[in-house]
Amino acid sequence: MNEYTAIADYYDLLMTSGYYQHDKIAKDIAALVPPSQKIIEIGVGTGLLLEKLLEIDPQYNLTGIDHTPAMLEIAQKRLGDRAKLFQADILSMSIPERFDAAISNGGLCAFVDTGSDCDFYTHLPDYESNLQALQNVANCLENGGLFITNVQGVHDAYDQPLPGGIVYSQEIFESTTTNCIEKVFYFKKEDDERILAQQRLIYRIFKEEAIEDIFNQAGFKVEGKDKSGQLFIASKK
Ligand SMILES: C[S@@+](CC[C@H](N)C(=O)[O-])C[C@H]1O[C@@H](n2cnc3c(N)ncnc32)[C@H](O)[C@@H]1O
Repeated sequence: MNEYTAIADYYDLLMTSGYYQHDKIAKDIAALVPPSQKIIEIGVGTGLLLEKLLEIDPQYNLTGIDHTPAMLEIAQKRLGDRAKLFQADILSMSIPERFDAAISNGGLCAFVDTGSDCDFYTHLPDYESNLQALQNVANCLENGGLFITNVQGVHDAYDQPLPGGIVYSQEIFESTTTNCIEKVFYFKKEDDERILAQQRLIYRIFKEEAIEDIFNQAGFKVEGKDKSGQLFIASKK
C-alpha cells in the first residue's frame, strides 16, 4: 500500500517546485551526521535528498530503500553508483549492514507541525505495523545511531501551477473514526484540466502524547528537534 507508482513521473517536478527544500534539509542533516558515517534513507524516492548530501560531500556512504520500483528507477539514474539502492518494504526489510543514521524525509514518516503540536504521520495504517517498521529501523542502526525525520507543515488542500502547463492539486479527507487521513495527489493539464496522474495515500497520525511511547517500545530514546527545528531526532537505546 501507499506505493507512488502512478505519480513517479511527475514527482520530481513537484518536489523541485518547492514541496520540499531538499538542499536545506540535507544541510541540516549534514550538521548532525559527518560524511565519515553511514546513512540509510528509508523511502528514498527518486534520490533527491541523497543527491543533495553528495553535493555537500561526495564521501558520504549512502544507502536507500524504497518499495516503489518506478521511484527507485529514477533514483538509480540520478545517483548511479554513488549510493546503494534496494527495493524493499520497511516492514520486511532485512539489511545485514549497520548504519550510523537512518533518515525519513516523508518516506516511512514525517512529523507535522500544526502550530500547537508536532504529530507523527506515517505511511503505515495500523499501530502494529508502525511498531514493526520502527523496530526494523532500530535493528539496522548501531547503538546510539540516530533516526532523523523531517518536520513539515500541515497537509492542506491547494492547487499549484508547475512548469510545462501542469497544475498540481492535493485534497485531504479526514476520518472521524480512524486515526488516518487520506491525501490525493493530482497532476492535471492546465488548459483542459485533464488528469495526467493521480495517487491516493493514507497516512496514520500519532498525536504528540503517543509518540514517545511507540518510539520507546521500538528501542529508541526521543531526543526532540534539532537546532533548525526542521528535523526530529531519536537515538537507538
Ligand atoms: C513522499 S516520498 C519521499 C521520497 C524522498 N524521501 C524525498 O525526500 O523526496 C515517499 C516515499 O516513501 C516510499 N514508501 C512509502 N511507504 C514505504 C514502505 N512501507 N517501505 C518502503 N518505502 C515506502 C514511497 O514509495 C515513496 O517513494
